[in-house]
Amino acid sequence: MALLGVNIDHVATLRQARRESDPDPIKAALICQQAGADSIVAHLREDRRHINDNDVKLLRERLSIRFNLEMSIAPEIVNVACKLKPEQVTLVPERRQELTTEGGLDVIKQFKRLKLACAKLKDHGAEISLFIAPDKAQIDRTVDLNVGIIEIHTGCYAMAKTIAARNKELKRIIQMTAYASKLGLVVNAGHGLKYDNTTPIANVPGMHELNIGHSIISYAVFAGLAQAVKEMKELAQARV
Ligand code: PXP
Repeated sequence: MALLGVNIDHVATLRQARRESDPDPIKAALICQQAGADSIVAHLREDRRHINDNDVKLLRERLSIRFNLEMSIAPEIVNVACKLKPEQVTLVPERRQELTTEGGLDVIKQFKRLKLACAKLKDHGAEISLFIAPDKAQIDRTVDLNVGIIEIHTGCYAMAKTIAARNKELKRIIQMTAYASKLGLVVNAGHGLKYDNTTPIANVPGMHELNIGHSIISYAVFAGLAQAVKEMKELAQARV
């Protein structure tokens, strides 16, 4: 059975729409923890567009489950992580213009920079995960970095337009999970996983943990909307 890491970035995105304190991503993380999440994921982006430095500090202090800090290898962010000492860091590529993390790391091209960042993070005790495509060459180069975990980017699987294309992607993920597991890596997966496409990925032999954000936060809006309206209607009709 795969573990579940919940990404709470989108709660912070909603907060930033008003630059106020609600909805509070820390409160969201504690609800996820209470509901059975195995870890909480938050991406401290270089532009701080959603999660900010205070959020990651509070998450580190208040969570009793694992905190997985998603981050780029920009030196400033690596310094924040070294001070914060989360239980896990997940290294991802980051582009200022992107709406979300669009692809995996190119471990081959970025090898030298990744090696430096990983050495520094390891010195500060972080378990390191690399977000990569389900690709043999990327996995091989990851092994050379001496990190223990990969997270397979499931975007191509999730975005596949036909059943045949989706099955092809699933097969690739199954093969690459087996390959990476054999090399001693722990294998996680994430990106674009929803209520109707998660179970096949959870059943990939050797799959350790799934990291899911957008679909859970989206569903939560509708799961809670009727209650929110009822309570506000009661207030609108209450006598002082
Ligand atoms: N894992 C990583 C490394 C990601 O960058 C993201 C997106 O922030 C996710 C998982 C979660 O993706 P989604 O929000 O599509 O569930």
